[in-house]
Amino acid sequence: MAILKIARMGHPVLRCRAEPVADPRAPEIARLVEDMLETMEDAGGTGLAAPQVHVPLRLVVFFVSGRRAAAEAESGQEGSAVPLTVLINPEIEHLTPETALGPEACLSVPGLIGQVPRTTRIRYRGLSLEGKVLEREAEGFHARVVQHECDHLDGILYPQRMTDLSSLAFTSEIGRAPQDAPPMEEELAENHGE
Ligand code: NI
Repeated sequence: MAILKIARMGHPVLRCRAEPVADPRAPEIARLVEDMLETMEDAGGTGLAAPQVHVPLRLVVFFVSGRRAAAEAESGQEGSAVPLTVLINPEIEHLTPETALGPEACLSVPGLIGQVPRTTRIRYRGLSLEGKVLEREAEGFHARVVQHECDHLDGILYPQRMTDLSSLAFTSEIGRAPQDAPPMEEELAENHGE
């Protein structure tokens, strides 16, 4: 296992369309996932896509913590914890035209946070490391994190999805106002860093 270097905005690997994984059960894919999980944990992220670690393949890892799900439920939204998930060659189907704004951060765009519109209800499908089909419906933060990570596979970073760039800010300037939800991908790193 190894902690991998994370590509930052501007690196070409983050701008290209990633290639499908030919064999999800190949040993090098299992090794890549192990390293991505270690890297995500080290960085305090809630999701990571292979291009972020300089591997242009269609593979993402993510989870939704119980703490995050509880906070979502408390604010009256749909929210449930999601176990650590490896999703290979994912496809997303939008189940509603409805979108919602929510805060996002990205390990490839360190130090920043912005309000991003995302579809509120999706169905996603992909393969597991065992090569089995994994299909789920997702709402709220779960739907948001999957859309964010899958965008990485098409060379899209969250600022490109923003409709109002005036909400793009350095997290260190936000001052942790109580109404600000913790950003995704970097929530732990930001809280415990510096
Ligand atoms: Ni990201």
